[in-house]
Amino acid sequence: MATPTLDKADAAGTPEPGFADSPYITATFRIRRFNPEVSGEAVWEDFQLEIDPKERVLDALHKIKWDHDGSLTFRRSCAHGICGSDAMRINGKNRLACKTLIKDINPAKPITVEPIKGLTVLKDLVVDMEPFFQAYRDVMPFLITKETNEPTRERLQSAEDRERFDDTTKCILCAACTSSCPVFWNDGQYFGPAAIVNAHRFIFDSRDDAGEQRLEILNDKDGVWRCRTTFNCTDACPRGIEVTKAIQEVKRALITRRY
Ligand code: SF4
Ligand code: FES
Repeated sequence: MATPTLDKADAAGTPEPGFADSPYITATFRIRRFNPEVSGEAVWEDFQLEIDPKERVLDALHKIKWDHDGSLTFRRSCAHGICGSDAMRINGKNRLACKTLIKDINPAKPITVEPIKGLTVLKDLVVDMEPFFQAYRDVMPFLITKETNEPTRERLQSAEDRERFDDTTKCILCAACTSSCPVFWNDGQYFGPAAIVNAHRFIFDSRDDAGEQRLEILNDKDGVWRCRTTFNCTDACPRGIEVTKAIQEVKRALITRRY
């Protein structure tokens, strides 16, 4: 496989002024490539870049796509850790490419970049997110109230009641947690941490009246009881959500029916 080099030189090979003093390093990005139109097998491909180590892995992927191989396929949108679209396995750990600085992942060695696990790879770093979003939809991630009439003012809540589910409001649906879970890798039927986090966000919301329904949904054979408390999800969450704790709280609510 070719090892293309992108450097800071012009077409004649003359280094840009000041390049010798620049902070640029040469780093190798080893990317898992898959194109079902070409082959049923995924392969690793190396790209060497001259890059500032203070840049992010997403910047490196952009350089590769824009300057060398336009067919490299990955998702991203906000580039600032908000949209959740660029979760990928970087050096064997789920991370957001836009929040991962190259200097923090040992650029002296090849940096591996591959798709998140447990979901079907469509092309290169893009996976089919539909099973993930189906589990999310299944827990009814929206406010449900018994009131039949539209309220005439906002639904009030104490600061303490709001605090109860503050952590789980931070989810950006990146799937880093669910796709780091060995139970999810096994058969993909488990609801997964992200769906449970988003159920937690409403179960513990004092304004919501459908906690009982959501708990019953998660009482399923593919629900919370399949969690083996490995903490992979908590380790993987780029938002710092205490995912395992949220799952434990949902389990406890199922036993006590208090939430
Ligand atoms: S809980 Fe964290 S890791 Fe999981 S989907 Fe939400 S933001 Fe991503
Ligand atoms: S591109 Fe939006 S979270 Fe990384």
